[in-house]
Amino acid sequence: RYISWNPVMAEKAGYKHFMQKEIYEQPRAITDTIRGKYSLDDGMVYLTELEAIEDRLKVIERIQIVACGTSWHAGLVGKFLIEKFAKIPVEVDIASEYRYRNPIVDGKVLFIPISQSGETADTLAALRLAKSMGAVVVSICNVIGSSITRESDGTIYTHAGPEIGVASTKAFTTQLATLYLLGIYLAQLKGTLDKDERLRYIDALIKVPEDISSVLTLDEKIEELAKKFKESRNFLYLGRNINYPVALEGALKLKEISYIHAEGYPAGEMKHGPIALIDKNMPVFFIATDSHIYEKTLSNIEEVKARDGVVIAVATEGNNEILKKADYVIYVKKTVEETSIFTTTVVAQFFAYHCATLLGLDVDQPRNLAKSVTVE
Ligand code: G6P
Repeated sequence: RYISWNPVMAEKAGYKHFMQKEIYEQPRAITDTIRGKYSLDDGMVYLTELEAIEDRLKVIERIQIVACGTSWHAGLVGKFLIEKFAKIPVEVDIASEYRYRNPIVDGKVLFIPISQSGETADTLAALRLAKSMGAVVVSICNVIGSSITRESDGTIYTHAGPEIGVASTKAFTTQLATLYLLGIYLAQLKGTLDKDERLRYIDALIKVPEDISSVLTLDEKIEELAKKFKESRNFLYLGRNINYPVALEGALKLKEISYIHAEGYPAGEMKHGPIALIDKNMPVFFIATDSHIYEKTLSNIEEVKARDGVVIAVATEGNNEILKKADYVIYVKKTVEETSIFTTTVVAQFFAYHCATLLGLDVDQPRNLAKSVTVE
């Protein structure tokens, strides 16, 4: 008797696809990424990899984040976290845009390229441009020794492990965890968070692997939901504030692997265009977890329902009110607002994954896409 086996199956470790395996690896990936970088005794974040340039970092006045694709979405979340924690203004740009405009850069600018592979051509070119104009460069990267890390003044590595699926999952959430740590670290340099506040945020970050594990138990439930929507031709993803980049990322995941057209939008901007698309055939995926802006998102849900749109809402456990408004609700654990992005992201990853696999598509190698774009 023979056991059917091949090296690829072995690498997938019992999972059907690399993407599925990588979704499930996220609690571990985040634990590895934050390990040894904080102390609960003094409420401090330690990024020893930046020690050599700490004096330069102390005097920065502006931050420019540049990236492509999913890494750009991480950058948009990073803006919220860094501005909130460290009170330093942050701009976020797509690398292929940044490199061809005339950016204003000097030695007071901290330039942060974010890249899973460290080889994306546009991100590397943007880095070279900013560096030539005097910026301090701290990259966030998953591949040790990659081109982007070699040209940076410092690198904070994500420890996602190799990501094989073309659609990024664990690389994204580890980038978020790294930006979160960097935000607290910069807050320390600028003196913008006191010890209690830092402890509260660090504590919330430490809980993220557990928060994500609780979403992993929703896998089958989200698959059932995907069965109802896999034939849709269009999708709208809406969120506000820190949830807006999550909406962008959810829409990107869906279009990348299921080929369903999906657009991510800031929920408040819906009335300036997308609302014209809403009818009974338009599903709208809302990121509607508890936040200081939740009520505003709820009004947007009502606006969609008033036009016969179909609403899927990702909401915080215990929110019964939303059941009366949305057609389908996926509940995630209550967390602080700043870490809710992890749970909501994983719901969106599962939803895209299941739509695509139910349609019989190759989620690990979607058509026309490359894992790493090393040419323009
Ligand atoms: C490609 C990949 C995406 C990735 C983007 C940026 O488009 O398919 O998953 O987000 O490149 O890649 P990077 O390695 O720079 O993060």
